[in-house]
Amino acid sequence: MNDKKIYERVDKTKLPRHVAIIMDGNGRWATGRGLLRSAGHTAGVKTLKKILTVAVDLNLEALTVYAFSTENWKRPHAEVDFLMKLFSEYIEKEKREMNEKNVRIRFIGRLEEFSPGIQKQMTDATELMKNNTGVQFNVAANYGGRDEIIRAAKKIAEKISAGKISPDEIDGTLFDGETDTAGQPPVDLLIRTSGDMRISNFLLWQSAYAELWFTKTTWPEFSPEEFIDALIEFGKRDRKFGGLGK
Ligand code: IPE
Ligand code: IPE
Ligand code: MG
Repeated sequence: MNDKKIYERVDKTKLPRHVAIIMDGNGRWATGRGLLRSAGHTAGVKTLKKILTVAVDLNLEALTVYAFSTENWKRPHAEVDFLMKLFSEYIEKEKREMNEKNVRIRFIGRLEEFSPGIQKQMTDATELMKNNTGVQFNVAANYGGRDEIIRAAKKIAEKISAGKISPDEIDGTLFDGETDTAGQPPVDLLIRTSGDMRISNFLLWQSAYAELWFTKTTWPEFSPEEFIDALIEFGKRDRKFGGLGK
């Protein structure tokens, strides 16, 4: 639990339902300190723990974090291996505490490309928390927005060929039901740390009307206070959804 004082500034009626975070800058944080990139990833895990705690304390409906993209396989083998090890340790170390905090975890992405061991850890963690009713915590792993859209399109095509639905029935709701975040609200606030202003193939479908918030702070340095700054700024935005707004 974070110090409750940090929440005094928050107007709980103006919080986003679904926050998504591109946790970027681990490598830059490390190399800037003469450390190996891997040290940045380890430091990044600590930040994630603190930010999830804020989500729990504020009872956000959903938090989705970008842990590994479909493009991240392009990195050197040693870095990919390190990330896989870290991922597996993170699940093992944190799942009990997450469960106690009533968090419901879901892994989103092309999960079948992970090792059988990691896949089992993901399934076990998901199973452990499946009846929880608190924050929906989505970990995007081997995730790509385009890949997700293609997988959803294939599932729909299969239902059509099996005669279960007709093409006329395809609409936003039906399509959404085939995405990895089926049943969850769309992304309201999308945060990216470390200064780059791009989406990098994250939640393309879900972020259609997300408010974007960028910071130069690297992910290991991103703090609960700055997360709260982003949530407060979100509350001040005039979301128009194509209409005329407030
Ligand atoms: C984000 O930090 C973590 C992952 C992509 C796994 P980076 O590793 O991309 O850090 P930078 O962007 O190189 O600083
Ligand atoms: C996006 O960061 C993916 C994750 C944070 C997991 P990248 O560092 O991979 O994105 P690019 O390469 O700068 O676009
Ligand atoms: Mg990066």
